[in-house]
Amino acid sequence: MNITDLRSDTVTKPTPDMLQAMFAAQVGDDVYEEDPTINALEQKAAALFGMEAGLFCPSGTMTNQIAIKAHTEPMTEVICDITAHIYQYEGGGIMFNSGASVALVHGERGKMTPAQVEAHIRPDNIHYPPTRLVALENTCNKGGGSYYTLPEIAAISEVCKRYGIALHLDGARVFNALVASGENPQEYGKYFDSISICLSKGLGAPVGSLLLGTKAFIKKSRRIRKVLGGGIRQGGYLAAAGIYALDHHVARLAEDHRKAKVIEQVLREADYVDYVMPVETNIVILKLNDRYKDTDFVALLAEQNIRAGSFGPQMIRFVTHLDVSEEMLQHVLGVLQKLNKQQVEV
Ligand SMILES: Cc1ncc(COP(=O)(O)O)c(C=O)c1O
Repeated sequence: MNITDLRSDTVTKPTPDMLQAMFAAQVGDDVYEEDPTINALEQKAAALFGMEAGLFCPSGTMTNQIAIKAHTEPMTEVICDITAHIYQYEGGGIMFNSGASVALVHGERGKMTPAQVEAHIRPDNIHYPPTRLVALENTCNKGGGSYYTLPEIAAISEVCKRYGIALHLDGARVFNALVASGENPQEYGKYFDSISICLSKGLGAPVGSLLLGTKAFIKKSRRIRKVLGGGIRQGGYLAAAGIYALDHHVARLAEDHRKAKVIEQVLREADYVDYVMPVETNIVILKLNDRYKDTDFVALLAEQNIRAGSFGPQMIRFVTHLDVSEEMLQHVLGVLQKLNKQQVEV
């Protein structure tokens, strides 16, 4: 039986049609800015988000780290939620790449309020690192796929503009937020100074992220990408997958959200679950009670060809995506229900 891999939406493989688009790509040397497919993808993504320019990079970690470096100098500070990927999961890169410190906000499921952001902005005093950047994550991974709406973003942007501080978006899963809210990506350009989007999460491309911003910001970022060794010469084959994903894999994210919601419903009835974070997009995070240890629970699922992520003590994460079929979903639901009835031999 096929493995149902719910550890992350990064595990998807290109569809036959996506592979076809990749094979057909026109390519050139992107370090010379001569790859027509990368150039087209950068322009397409920038236009979509109401930004001037884009930069294709190998990963979301790289686009985030480039943005942070471009917005800050050593001895300045970045404000983000304590659960943010840029702080938790990028290997200490803010300190290493940018020499900046981080002011951590204890938000609600990864989301900060304008008042919390404002309270963390440093006064002009030589004892403090000057605040240069606020970074939001949309959707919030550790928040269980929670998302900011445009009015919430606008209110934080207003605080940043008032203090002359840049606003960056880690939009690794921003398309999930946009599909769930029905909002227009064009509006994002009004509020953010830079946006990172990932093609290799819910959109199903094998590789690639884009950093979006003004022409001047992207010029500076291109230089930082060079220093990090992030230019992919004939990367157009990968960019073609990204173009295909933007054209064909955005609206279908609603399907992933529906599947996550169904998993949530079954877990809400389960006697081994302490709580489930309300599902808003494609991520389901639950806390187990003491019936199962998290590692044992993951192992039990693995015996049934289901892979899930252990996400901290007693915490489990399921992420739905393009490669989870209806049949796989039904199998997962059946296994989760049987575990609930203590029929461990499912
Ligand atoms: C919210 C968020 N930001 C950034 C990244 C980094 O993306 P990458 O794995 O492409 O470096 C991830 C990866 O899962 C993520 O979940």
